[in-house]
Amino acid sequence: MDFKGKVALITGAGNGIGRATAVGFASRGAKVVVVDHDKAAGEATAGILRQQGGDSLFIAADVTKSNDVQNYVKATLDAYGQIDCFHNNAGIEGAIAMTAEYDEDMFDKIMSVNVKGVFLGLRHVLPVMIKQGRGAVVNTASVAGLVGSPGMPAYVASKHAVIGLTKTASGEVARAGVRVNAICPGPIDTRMIHSVESMINPNDPSGVGNTYQANIPLGRYGTAEEVANLVQFLCSDLAANITGAQYVVDGGRTATGGAVSNSLVR
Ligand SMILES: NC(=O)c1ccc[n+]([C@@H]2O[C@H](COP(=O)([O-])OP(=O)(O)OC[C@H]3O[C@@H](n4cnc5c(N)ncnc54)[C@H](O)[C@@H]3O)[C@@H](O)[C@H]2O)c1
Repeated sequence: MDFKGKVALITGAGNGIGRATAVGFASRGAKVVVVDHDKAAGEATAGILRQQGGDSLFIAADVTKSNDVQNYVKATLDAYGQIDCFHNNAGIEGAIAMTAEYDEDMFDKIMSVNVKGVFLGLRHVLPVMIKQGRGAVVNTASVAGLVGSPGMPAYVASKHAVIGLTKTASGEVARAGVRVNAICPGPIDTRMIHSVESMINPNDPSGVGNTYQANIPLGRYGTAEEVANLVQFLCSDLAANITGAQYVVDGGRTATGGAVSNSLVR
């Protein structure tokens, strides 16, 4: 995978999976535009890339705001003139509560970031890629976009929606030379999964983590870098025939429904 001469635009790149993707693209030669609403985190990611010899720019934006999204697209074009790879990644976990008790404002907040944010990214980046006649988009969904997860109704609904947006957009832009795919990470070792552990049991978050990991065939959380590798592959020419697809990166969790018999694991 070689991204020399390419420009990668990544939302939610201040932390976690987005930062790892930014580091991965930069290490393979891309100019990287870091987008986040957390200014300190976004500046830190861009600083790391520049320290490693890369060319990077941070643009502060809230992905739920149309003006901010239009601005990060314009700022990318002003700086680098093109967008080859777009990792439409910013997302939030929100609160844990059963559907029968779920807070309405929290539901709206999660849908706003995870669905409207992804839609606005597509809405304003796709015209650029269509005009270029090339480009690859990777939307961050989740295994929660494929199966239910009790206690996370809004998050699950939002990630199913990301897959719907991906499938729809892919068919619309394929003949223009643009590919659109989704990734479905399982539990990944970032701030987000530790936040979920703490919400489930504030007294013993690491106990929750141990149970989660015991139910993953590979026996551990994934790393942000392992997800970043998939994003780069899907944006690369190696994936030239892949569009409208969703790829699971979850250590085997979804395939087995968590039904790992540890006594059988050697
Ligand atoms: N960590 C996991 O286990 C996991 C699993 C499946 C999917 N995901 C998805 O991966 C993506 C990245 O999550 P992560 O684990 O790196 O979490 P994270 O919290 O470490 O990083 C998310 C980043 O998005 C930014 N962000 C949040 N809301 C934003 C907004 N409105 N505008 C701009 N930036 C915003 C945050 O500031 C942060 O830097 C999310 O879409 C998440 O749903 C994570």
